Amino acid sequence: MERKDFIEKVGMSGAAILVMGCFGACSKSSDTGSGSGTNPNPNPSKPVDFTINISNSPYNVLQNNGGFYVDTANNVIIAKTTSGMLIAVSSLCTHQAVTLEFQGNNNRFYCPGHGSNFNTAGTVLNGPAATALKAYKTSLSGSLLRIYE
Ligand code: FES
Repeated sequence: MERKDFIEKVGMSGAAILVMGCFGACSKSSDTGSGSGTNPNPNPSKPVDFTINISNSPYNVLQNNGGFYVDTANNVIIAKTTSGMLIAVSSLCTHQAVTLEFQGNNNRFYCPGHGSNFNTAGTVLNGPAATALKAYKTSLSGSLLRIYE
């Protein structure tokens, strides 16, 4: 093999390795990112503002204290606290965007991803999440519940 041919082949392999290494590092970095600053609104140019009828399925779970419903279209979790308040926060954990649950018996939002907990206002009770959930306003008129910013 000529020296020139050898250098060309090694050079191409080296470049390929560098490129592959970059892809690996790039995907690893985004997979292990903190997730802080996740925008809960899938369409940030449009504020969250929607209404549900809590008399109708599947929203009627909100008639029970401790019940909750996740609206995947808006990334909002709506819950009824143990004292009967209807509350709404971002449904995506601020750590790595796992969908939250509401634990009625503990009156808090729980992340099954890595165990973060948030109070009913969305404040972090324990990490690894470090950022509060975005809280939304709610307004009940009859059985119509409006969730908005
Ligand atoms: S995604 Fe890690 S604690 Fe929620």
